[in-house]
Amino acid sequence: MSLSFLSECKVKVLNRIDSLLPDTSKIISSMRYSALADSKCIRAGLIFASGKLNNEISNSALIDMATSIELMHTYSLIHDDLPSMDNDHIRRGQPTSHIKFNEATAILTGDALQALAYETIVSSSAINQVQKISSIAALTKACGHQGMILGQQYDLDAEDGNYDDIQKIHELKTGKLIQVAMTMPHLGIEQQSNQLIVLDQIGKDLGLAFQIMDDVLEASSDSNTLGKSNQSDLLNKKLTYVSVFGKQESVNQAKTLSNACIEKLESSFNKQEAADLIELAKFMVTRKS
Ligand code: IPE
Ligand code: IPE
Ligand code: MG
Ligand code: MG
Repeated sequence: MSLSFLSECKVKVLNRIDSLLPDTSKIISSMRYSALADSKCIRAGLIFASGKLNNEISNSALIDMATSIELMHTYSLIHDDLPSMDNDHIRRGQPTSHIKFNEATAILTGDALQALAYETIVSSSAINQVQKISSIAALTKACGHQGMILGQQYDLDAEDGNYDDIQKIHELKTGKLIQVAMTMPHLGIEQQSNQLIVLDQIGKDLGLAFQIMDDVLEASSDSNTLGKSNQSDLLNKKLTYVSVFGKQESVNQAKTLSNACIEKLESSFNKQEAADLIELAKFMVTRKS
């Protein structure tokens, strides 16, 4: 894909995170450790790519939205890796937060990154008041007890055989944040409502496809390439697409979803304006890590 596009998004977001977190205290050091570590910044990429379909939004507003989404994502990973959750020791090619610091600091670091995610939007000088309210409303809904956290609870319940809807788990725990990254640059703008419905559906399908490929990669790749464990799902007896459908069928489902999203993007938007989004939709299921 235009990996150069993703790299540009990553530079903008990491610079912004760097400026938000001057390194002066223990909690800031641990926030920086995880938030500035090597990552793909796919959700930031989705914000910038989707933002290209709205010529009324500024680059600075997109930077703040993308930064917020990536801070939220990093918080979710730190908590996801905790001993009481997936108990993982490697993330983004380095020791997880609780291994590097300690469990209590990792919990606080996640909490602080979550708060900073909201603050980044609320205190942005580039996002107008109406967009702020709608962005925060969408983000809280996507990440809370009806969204990502509900998905994480179902994911844990499934370990004990107390939940078995794998599609729902993925749509919630991973899909919701990806979905809101697709729509955020279009919120609070009335004339964009048709566009918003299409982007919301595409975000839902791409979010599912992304997590299906996460299951496939963990079952097929090595820890070095992934920058995280390739044994976690097995050790935790997770319900995954691979455990339910097998590898090949999972890949087929992810690619079918991605192809359908690409077709929808091509038929709904100006091809040039949607070009980065189309490339990202491909990359989400062809990536190697
Ligand atoms: C990993 O997300 C966790 C999931 C929700 C699947 P990414 O694969 O986007 O991780 P980073 O941000 O690049 O580290
Ligand atoms: C992570 O899902 C989802 C969230 C952090 C909300 P996984 O547990 O499947 O992702 P990895 O494999 O640890 O990255
Ligand atoms: Mg997990
Ligand atoms: Mg995990």
